[in-house]
Amino acid sequence: MSRRAPSLIAAPPGTQDILVPAGFVVRRFAGTLAHTRTLSRPIRVAHLTDLHVGRVTPARVFAETVNLTNALEPDLVVITGDFVCHSQAYLDLLAATIQGFAAPVLAVLGNHDYWCGAPEVARALRRGGAELLDNAHTTLTLHGEKLQVVGVDDDYTGHARVERAVKGLSPGVATLGLSHIGEVADALWPHGVPLVLSGHTHAGQVTVAKLHELAIGRVVGHRYVHGLYGQRTVEAGEDGAVYVGAGIGAAVLPLRVGPRARREIAIFELGAAPGHFVEPMVEQLPHPGRAPTARKQDARLKKVARYRARRVRRLKALPPETPSQT
Ligand SMILES: [Fe+2]
Repeated sequence: MSRRAPSLIAAPPGTQDILVPAGFVVRRFAGTLAHTRTLSRPIRVAHLTDLHVGRVTPARVFAETVNLTNALEPDLVVITGDFVCHSQAYLDLLAATIQGFAAPVLAVLGNHDYWCGAPEVARALRRGGAELLDNAHTTLTLHGEKLQVVGVDDDYTGHARVERAVKGLSPGVATLGLSHIGEVADALWPHGVPLVLSGHTHAGQVTVAKLHELAIGRVVGHRYVHGLYGQRTVEAGEDGAVYVGAGIGAAVLPLRVGPRARREIAIFELGAAPGHFVEPMVEQLPHPGRAPTARKQDARLKKVARYRARRVRRLKALPPETPSQT
């Protein structure tokens, strides 16, 4: 397969032109109206999702992701879940990748992290220096500005607890939400979280002829498939916006076909008003969506327990370690 040449993008103000590796795209957006009211200077957030560190995605992709992200000079990096694929075999590479980011890293888990072992993935993230938000929020001070970030745990596997995550949020402080599943945004907006960043869909990975909208929207039943949805120009607490990132890696098929499916880093300039600069897309209308049935939710929970039991069985079947003779 032929590799496309890297391309130069017009860099955000304050940075030089940046070389974007082949297969990647950088999309840049303003924050919400609420952020212009709560921040006196912009905060640049880099959003990444679905790294899927593992054998499906070449290791060079993670090095390119870190280099490109650092070149964009964000104040904060947020990563919305699915750090691994199907095993714990690549946790050292995950920790090293996280360690490579120059800015602070905040993270929430996704369904693949629960399937592979959430405690072990969480440990690797912390080893790499990330702060994990599992139905919790944290407040950072960046350039003297306060930003509180709410992280909701993975909703796909039944671990999201929105009420717990938002408990104690300070009204009047700039706020950002993180969730692997985009539809959680609907429950976060009324709590004064005007913008939620999410992932999970990989933008369908094949976006020619709008195939991703058919597959992820109609067939799977997601309201939010890829890109920007909702409203950024309403008062906090009324409504809000959600961004679904296309992701970096893949868990099953390595292919990404179509401009929407390219590995994506989304930059959000919180504190810049929507319309302040040209953006690569506008807010889209959501799909009708279809919430998972109680039976499906139960099956998803059981899958996590089944995979955990399988890991324990395999560990017990391993021969006891023999002491070294040297
Ligand atoms: Fe994923």
